[in-house]
Amino acid sequence: MKRYPEFERMLADLPSHFSRGAKLGRPKAPASAPKGVVVCGMGGSALPGLILEAMASSGNLGVPVIVWRNYDLPRIMPPQSLVICLSYSGNTEETISSFLRARRKRLPILAITTGGKLAEAARKYRVPLVLIPAGLPPRLAIGYLTGAVLGALKLDRIGGGITGQKLMPASRVSKNIARLLTAKIPLIYSPPEWQTLAHIWKIAFNENAKIPAFSYAFPEINHNEMMGLASRPLPANKTLAAIFLADSASHPRIRRRIKLTQAILRRRAKIKTLEVKLSGRSFFEKLIYGIELGYWSSYWLAVGRGVNPFDEKLIEDFKKEMGSPKATP
Ligand code: F6R
Repeated sequence: MKRYPEFERMLADLPSHFSRGAKLGRPKAPASAPKGVVVCGMGGSALPGLILEAMASSGNLGVPVIVWRNYDLPRIMPPQSLVICLSYSGNTEETISSFLRARRKRLPILAITTGGKLAEAARKYRVPLVLIPAGLPPRLAIGYLTGAVLGALKLDRIGGGITGQKLMPASRVSKNIARLLTAKIPLIYSPPEWQTLAHIWKIAFNENAKIPAFSYAFPEINHNEMMGLASRPLPANKTLAAIFLADSASHPRIRRRIKLTQAILRRRAKIKTLEVKLSGRSFFEKLIYGIELGYWSSYWLAVGRGVNPFDEKLIEDFKKEMGSPKATP
């Protein structure tokens, strides 16, 4: 089985990217704290926005956050919002369009990228710009991108600071997950406060292992999703496997829901399940551990499937086929 040492090195370095990104972001902190934040970015570059949103909803932020994965900007935004435009390549058309709209509206902007059109536009309009190192697949730049956002918002030192545990590449857990998912479609379920992490796992399986994957969160699962799986199971259920991300700090009723739902999926829906405990003492430790575990699992799955975890040709070809926005009527 072909392994990808360069990918393994990037994964091993990932925990250190968060604090390095924070150092790059700090000098660009706005003079006065924003009253709201709109984070614009797509795919891997949207992940820091989702992490910020999770921090805001758990009360770690104190200002509202909107994650905008679309063209232009939301019609309604908190007054005096900072618009953070994130694009690893700097050439994602949706994000450039948000940047230009924010410019026209004279809103305060922060651009975070490795270069491309976004860096050009930031320089042209004298918008604060954080340049992060190039050379990673955007999803593996999650540490730099997130660190830069948190540094610029002076949030990188809250709750024990942005430190992560290093997970050994040979970690039994990530290999076990990859083994369970062989020839399966993963359903990744999480407590509500970790739905961003479940989404991060989903896109890691999509982009690294090249498989379909779906994520959803409790308690909502018990109000619809489980009916589709366990009422009158389809033969296709055999191709599914469910991963439950669990945190001992979650609401006790959520923890109970996770246990009961696992039993229902196993017994009634005939779906294999696995509970994965998020280890760590703080939000950031659990987050970084969770990201590493998801990324390593998707990597081992890619290796087992004989696919190249770096390959993102389909996304790039699609962008080319879309052509330049100006060429579209
Ligand atoms: C590729 C990836 C994609 C990109 C997305 C936006 O690794 O994760 O989801 O992140 O196509 O591109 P960037 O990040 O360059 O703005």
